[in-house]
Amino acid sequence: MNPEKVKIAELQFKKMIDVADINDKVAELGKKLGEDYGGEVPILLSVLSGSFVFVADLMRSIPIPNEIIFVRAKSYVGLESTGNVQIEQLPEKLTGRDVIIVEDIIDTGHTLDALLKALAPMSPKSVKVASFLKKPEAYGYDHPVDYCCFEIPNDFVIGYGLDYNQHGRGLSSLYVLEESQS
Ligand code: IMP
Ligand code: MG
Repeated sequence: MNPEKVKIAELQFKKMIDVADINDKVAELGKKLGEDYGGEVPILLSVLSGSFVFVADLMRSIPIPNEIIFVRAKSYVGLESTGNVQIEQLPEKLTGRDVIIVEDIIDTGHTLDALLKALAPMSPKSVKVASFLKKPEAYGYDHPVDYCCFEIPNDFVIGYGLDYNQHGRGLSSLYVLEESQS
């Protein structure tokens, strides 16, 4: 689905980044990961639910062998981050491996911070972060976001896996909440 505007419940969203530009950037990132991890078999640690669309495209654009593991994290309710991040148990097979955390969006960074803390006891060989989006104005940590497709303003977005109360994940493009809501 790729309309110009979308209405979900009482909220109006408009297209911000078209699927064609998304595809180009994701393909570019996959190629870069192939170069940076040549000779290794990195594990993509995909953070559910939001990153499932991104990771599916990213994985298929990485030209070297790689594996995938999913972890569920939740901090958002509606339009707001609660700051209270719940992360499920991580598998031990991450020990000694090159891990690439794959996120849909780094917003406040609370989720990333909690994930890095949960990963540390697993002693991975290396940990890097690949996020489809980043909101630099909202980010409150020093952890580097090593790979990012798009930096966006501090506005609420949906599409390409991202949701508003579970709606909008299947939109092919990225949509931003329109400012004046009446
Ligand atoms: P953080 O912990 O504040 O960095 O937020 C991380 C998670 O909140 C992301 O992985 C998303 O699932 C969700 N999130 C943050 N910003 C947005 C947004 O604009 N739209 C939809 N979900 C978002
Ligand atoms: Mg997420």
